[in-house]
Amino acid sequence: MEVLRIEGGNRISGVFSVGGAKNAVLPILAAAILTDEDVVLTGCPKLLDVNNMLKIMETLGCRCAFGGDGTIRIQSGNANGWEMPDELSKALRSSIFMMGPILGRFHKATVTYPGGCEIGQRPIDLHLKGLRALGVEIEETHGMIYCNGENLRGGPVHFDFPSVGATENIMMAAVLAKGETVITNAAREPEIVDLQRFINLMGGDVSGAGTDEIRVRGVSKLHGAAYRPLPDRIVAGTLLVTAAMTRGEIELIGAVPGDLGAVLDKLRQAGCEIGASEAAIRLKAPEKLAAIEVSTQPYPGFPTDMQAQIMAMACTAKGTSVIVENVFENRLSHAAQLRRMGAEIIVNNRTAVIRGGRLTGARVSARDLRGGAALVMAALAAEGVTVVDNLSQIDRGYEAFENTLKSLGANIVREEI
Ligand code: UD1
Repeated sequence: MEVLRIEGGNRISGVFSVGGAKNAVLPILAAAILTDEDVVLTGCPKLLDVNNMLKIMETLGCRCAFGGDGTIRIQSGNANGWEMPDELSKALRSSIFMMGPILGRFHKATVTYPGGCEIGQRPIDLHLKGLRALGVEIEETHGMIYCNGENLRGGPVHFDFPSVGATENIMMAAVLAKGETVITNAAREPEIVDLQRFINLMGGDVSGAGTDEIRVRGVSKLHGAAYRPLPDRIVAGTLLVTAAMTRGEIELIGAVPGDLGAVLDKLRQAGCEIGASEAAIRLKAPEKLAAIEVSTQPYPGFPTDMQAQIMAMACTAKGTSVIVENVFENRLSHAAQLRRMGAEIIVNNRTAVIRGGRLTGARVSARDLRGGAALVMAALAAEGVTVVDNLSQIDRGYEAFENTLKSLGANIVREEI
């Protein structure tokens, strides 16, 4: 089994260039199916989730090549499949937003019903409701979802909750549908704005992304495009928080300050000095961090994908912090692992109360992607040696995490035990 062995105590400091965002690359790859011409994406991260997405696309008949420099070439000219492969779809929950583009192109789609996952039930009712509003007939039987999109057409879609994946799914389903689609209470995440940019670059007609109302006017055909997805705000946020909790000083090139507003705000409240220009963020940590109160919300609120990392930071702050997880119902499992490292955390339902203090090295396990990163961060701030296992979770979203941290001064190795 592979583990990360981390000796805490070093400051995380230096300069790092942030690469493309997983959560932008995944829907953009899905959107590439909407055209039969070639698509080239640059600056993509080498991640398990991205590789799984490419494998799914290959089973649908796309030809995909992922170069060492982060360039992905997709040829969808011969794509002819509309049935999502079972095992791969389960491994990558986000594959659910392939339904939209597959329906857009082939007017039918078959997918497996995704199971629950570590951070909550994650139902897909909003995705299905949105597709039905666009005229798709859906039959759910024996754990499968059969979609008939012969009558796919634009229409009004309202979400009770601004789901990121459902917003992207419906945007993509509507691009080649006749007529106009208006999505209200849409999610506003920067990755949705990026998806709009990419679709429009291929000749689509989408507007309003970044607001809660997105308008898609159907076009008859899309063409190929070359695009660089936006930098990863969660990787950037993770490194900023890591520098903060190890009393370091860091500069992140490429990080977009505007996309990280809520995170930078909390880091300032904790006592960090933040400097931001158009495409770089600098952070200098204080000798002692102050306690914080954080409540996760859809964008532009504090991102749920930064909640575990900010909890690790709160474990090292002076005083009592409170964190409320509002987006996923079961996303505090890292608290139990942090407790193994000496953290004082009480969890009640969706709220965690953390009394800051000293962390010590321990044997811990990554239960989910961001929770796993939080354990590595805690280890860097802890006294002694920590061993983190179940690394496939961390590898889903951080490209060679240990190399990044090593280049910033961490004492960390990946080894087989
Ligand atoms: C995306 C991100 C993920 C992030 C999440 C919230 C990608 C690839 N993943 O996931 O990293 O943590 O946004 O910012 O971009 N929900 C329903 N019914 C649905 C869909 C969602 O009830 O049909 C609920 C979910 O269970 C969850 C909440 O809505 O409680 C938010 O989920 P959603 O925004 O859809 O997250 P994802 O798109 O899966």
